[in-house]
Amino acid sequence: MERTFLAIKPDGVQRKLVGEIIRRFETKGFTLVALKFMNVSRELAQAHYDVHRERPFFASLIDFITSGPVVAMVWEGDGVIASARKLIGATNPLNSEPGTIRGDFGVNTGRNIIHGSDAPETAKNEIALWFKEEELVNWAPEIKGWLY
Ligand code: PPS
Repeated sequence: MERTFLAIKPDGVQRKLVGEIIRRFETKGFTLVALKFMNVSRELAQAHYDVHRERPFFASLIDFITSGPVVAMVWEGDGVIASARKLIGATNPLNSEPGTIRGDFGVNTGRNIIHGSDAPETAKNEIALWFKEEELVNWAPEIKGWLY
């Protein structure tokens, strides 16, 4: 079963969108595998966004993601990586459709509420970066067969 890494960013937490966001993934039918509410060290932030190190917004992105607590999560389900990106919406809120998280709640590219892994390899690396193996909870496998 596919897994993805999602993080509700400091703006999403401060705007009290945590429950709303989790509800969207639960009601879609995905399964929560891991969740923690945490402050992000600069070291973790830089490792997470390492691929963007040379981009002009890198420093402000690191400042932002370390500016307040985030909700780090792992979700599981068929096609969850691409599906979560659809539920999240485009990076630039001008392009994110109404009905998506960013389309409904975001107005600024740098404050776009939530991060989601963009591909299987990224998801694998991000899950391993943010979570220890024992923090991933395998549960209720018996209901998955008939729910999907
Ligand atoms: S994506 O989703 O990776 O294709 O988006 P991309 O445009 O490559 O952006 C990579 C991450 O950087 C964030 N971003 C910015 N942050 C601050 N300021 C500006 N101008 C900016 N532009 C892009 C963007 O939200 C992506 O972060 P995540 O957490 O992956 O969504």
